[in-house]
Amino acid sequence: MSGAASKPILMFDSGVGGLSVLAALRAVLPAAPVIYVADNAGLPYGGKSEAEIAARVSGLLGRMTERLRPRLVCIACNTASTIALAAVRDVLEVPIVGTVPAIKPAAAMTRTGVIGLLGTEATIRQGYVDRLEAQFAADKILLRHGVPDLVTMAEAHLRGRPVDPAAAMRAADGLRAMPGGERIDTVVLACTHFPLIADQLGMAFGPGVRFIDGAAGIAQRIVSLTQGQAFERTEPDLALFTRDEPDLTDLAPALAAAGLHRTAVF
Ligand code: DGL
Repeated sequence: MSGAASKPILMFDSGVGGLSVLAALRAVLPAAPVIYVADNAGLPYGGKSEAEIAARVSGLLGRMTERLRPRLVCIACNTASTIALAAVRDVLEVPIVGTVPAIKPAAAMTRTGVIGLLGTEATIRQGYVDRLEAQFAADKILLRHGVPDLVTMAEAHLRGRPVDPAAAMRAADGLRAMPGGERIDTVVLACTHFPLIADQLGMAFGPGVRFIDGAAGIAQRIVSLTQGQAFERTEPDLALFTRDEPDLTDLAPALAAAGLHRTAVF
């Protein structure tokens, strides 16, 4: 019994972005043992090709699930999910929860009918996003903007470095410069890194704009897929990186705040 109860939930991202999803999971399943995986050797995913991301993510998750035996895998990354979810489902037998841009709730929230979407360059060009738009926001205007600088900004912020608010201003200006962009009242944070810099984004967009991301929905999906299961943490939760880097130690306070008290390299 305690064997099954101590099986972890594996949460995966290219970097620290998935910590925004982990925070939502902690709020609803505080007892769940978690292994958080950051593929920092592959960061950033946003500038890579579809083929490279699909091969990398399914290969890594295949090896990791074999070694770590999670009860469930959460791909806490919009880029990896919108590109590789189907490929990963083909190779893994454990339940998989993906992260997809929160276009559906954004469409319900907007009053002006104009929604902004900030994501990586890879995410915003996906057919997956086209399909969400057609299904849930066909009567709205959805303006997409790829902002790799914000990934860099979130990584720096969680390492305790001062961040330049200009990157957040450029993201807001980029969206607003699109036709209809001045009427944006709702912005989908379609990259798990972005909620980590919500304060900076809030200042850049100003008080008239609301943000939405998928973290709470993902956490609820994990709750429903693990319904009736026991959870027992037999050792401190682990943060696993795919490459050792000197500045990983700078992440220790952010990892500890996320309940990740051990660090290792896969
Ligand atoms: N956190 C990832 C996402 O949700 C992307 C960051 C990257 O470019 O690797 O899309």
